[in-house]
Amino acid sequence: MDLKGKVAVVTGAGQGIGREVSLLLANHGANVVVGDLNIEAANMVANEVTEIGTEGFGYKVDVSDKDNAQSFIDSAIDTFGRIDILVNNAGITRDSMLHKMSEEQFDQVINVHMKGTFLCMQAAAKHMRQNETGKIVNISSIAGKVGNIGQVNYSGAKAGIVGMTKAAAKELAKFQVNVNAIQPGFIDTDMTRAVPEKIRQKKIEEIPMLKIGSPSDIAKAVVFLSSDYSDYITGNVIEVTGGRYM
Ligand SMILES: NC(=O)c1ccc[n+]([C@@H]2O[C@H](COP(=O)([O-])OP(=O)(O)OC[C@H]3O[C@@H](n4cnc5c(N)ncnc54)[C@H](O)[C@@H]3O)[C@@H](O)[C@H]2O)c1
Repeated sequence: MDLKGKVAVVTGAGQGIGREVSLLLANHGANVVVGDLNIEAANMVANEVTEIGTEGFGYKVDVSDKDNAQSFIDSAIDTFGRIDILVNNAGITRDSMLHKMSEEQFDQVINVHMKGTFLCMQAAAKHMRQNETGKIVNISSIAGKVGNIGQVNYSGAKAGIVGMTKAAAKELAKFQVNVNAIQPGFIDTDMTRAVPEKIRQKKIEEIPMLKIGSPSDIAKAVVFLSSDYSDYITGNVIEVTGGRYM
């Protein structure tokens, strides 16, 4: 899959899945704008991109803030002249049982996942429509399909991302802009390392492939959806779960 000269913008790219996505996009030839709340982490990943041999550019962004999201996308266009690929990956969890969940915990998760995805898609889609080409990949979660105990906020946000993906895909299809989502299962990052060891082991035993996913398992699916190998695929959701919930 050749992404030589393409310009990719990845959110939440300072660590975990977003970092791996940035590096694999670069390995396939893309220049990458590495966006994260944590600018030190974003700059480190941007340096790794540059070491691979394409251009990496770190940017501090809070995707849930409209002005921030807009200037993040604008900066990519100012730097590289275009955006070919947008990966909405930034995410947080604020877990709590429904009866205890605060309005703040609910709002924070909805704002980062749903509003952040909306704001970045909206800003990037304006350019992609004009250029009549583009790939948007939204990172949902299998939680958005099956629901997770203690994650009414997160499961709702991730299901919302699927709806937004399909609506945007319908609007943008005639401009040859593809919009798809990925639903990762249980992936080995800081987000899941916070899960107590006993529950972690149980979750791994429930996976038919009997192993936790790696960030690179997700990155490979993102690269596929960012390449011309997926030109006739839009409004789709790919589950990357080791066979869980098939
Ligand atoms: N790890 C899993 O098992 C798993 C499963 C399903 C879905 N996901 C999704 O994959 C994505 C990446 O998850 P991860 O496991 O790599 O998480 P992670 O916690 O390792 O990384 C998330 C990154 O997002 C950044 N971020 C958080 N809020 C932000 C904001 N407002 N603006 C910009 N950046 C922000 C963080 O600084 C961090 O670098 C998330 O959307 C997550 O919900 C993860």
